[in-house]
Amino acid sequence: MSDWPDRRILELFGIENPILLAPMAGFGTPALASAVAEAGGLGALASATITPEQARADIAAYRALTAKPLNLNFFCHRPPQPDPARDAAWRARLAPYYRDLGLDPDMPLSASSREPFNDAFLAVVEALRPEIVSFHFGLPARRLLDRVRATGAKVISSATTVAEARFLEAEGCDAIIAQGAEAGGHRGMFLTEDVASQVGTFALVPQVVDAVGVPVIAAGGIADARGVVAALALGASAVQIGTAFLFAPEAKVAPPHRRALDRTAADETAITNVFTGRPARGVVNRLMRDVGPLSADAPAFPLAGGAVAPLRAATEPQGSGDFMPLWSGQAARLARPMPAGDLVRMLAAEAVARLG
Ligand SMILES: Cc1cc2nc3c(=O)[nH]c(=O)nc-3n(C[C@H](O)[C@H](O)[C@H](O)COP(=O)(O)O)c2cc1C
Repeated sequence: MSDWPDRRILELFGIENPILLAPMAGFGTPALASAVAEAGGLGALASATITPEQARADIAAYRALTAKPLNLNFFCHRPPQPDPARDAAWRARLAPYYRDLGLDPDMPLSASSREPFNDAFLAVVEALRPEIVSFHFGLPARRLLDRVRATGAKVISSATTVAEARFLEAEGCDAIIAQGAEAGGHRGMFLTEDVASQVGTFALVPQVVDAVGVPVIAAGGIADARGVVAALALGASAVQIGTAFLFAPEAKVAPPHRRALDRTAADETAITNVFTGRPARGVVNRLMRDVGPLSADAPAFPLAGGAVAPLRAATEPQGSGDFMPLWSGQAARLARPMPAGDLVRMLAAEAVARLG
């Protein structure tokens, strides 16, 4: 496709369509990423919930399916400080659900497995050389970041405010994802903790475009060609789409999550911290309604998830989505279920036609 008005991201990443698959930890697959890449978009793999060994296997699977560039994604949160009082308050808050389900509220919990970007993941980047490395929750320590750059990878990260975008540009990011409040999954916020003032995509993108010189990628609430064209009109050079790709058969979505996505209206999602300790948008379910959506008792990311996991394990097999994160953006109802490659081709063709 050669008819895109702004070619900066296409040239930076070596892709044909300015449509980027959002990395989605636990939901994306090499099949999903490679289908997007083969259709001319940017394929992405997320590492937040897997080990470096699993990341190596996912990259090998992707490389076997396509020769196109790869975006490898990492969380770069600070590991939480121990806070026994908060942990106890959280367990007490959840204890009634444990008792209802016949579980021991004091049962031992497994530790959360969300590692921030570290030396072990850096070794994966240095060995397997993803063309693009993206971060969520800011950027890693300078020492790690310099070594990522030394591999030749383009570095991008998410901004949820103009101040975060300016910070990322000053730190040398090659492009910036402007993540509006509509977005599904975790808010990339890192210079603010104020969820109430998070900015919507329509207001955020042009203000970030005005504030920085590097290309801007719009994310949040984009699920059809109208959204793609609107984002480009606001000055974005590309779009990053998550929720709409959850409807593709290549995505790994548990049945209760899939059912929630199928029926969710724009006003049935909320930003919650009850599943991980960090704000993230998902379909409102029982735990969010009862305990949140934002709870001061939830331990810091990623520890909140530890005490929720047994509740999920006890209920999901019965088809219940009461205690699992049903991540979704506000535009799920605009998504059309189809193979990911078809979705990229359809969005590109319809957007180019609309751009005239
Ligand atoms: C299910 C799901 C999982 C996500 N996981 C990640 C992740 O691992 N890393 C990341 O940088 N962003 C993640 N995100 C956020 C996306 O990068 C992106 O900002 C968002 O999907 C865009 O909004 P949309 O969902 O309305 O398209 C996730 C989003 C969803 C919906």
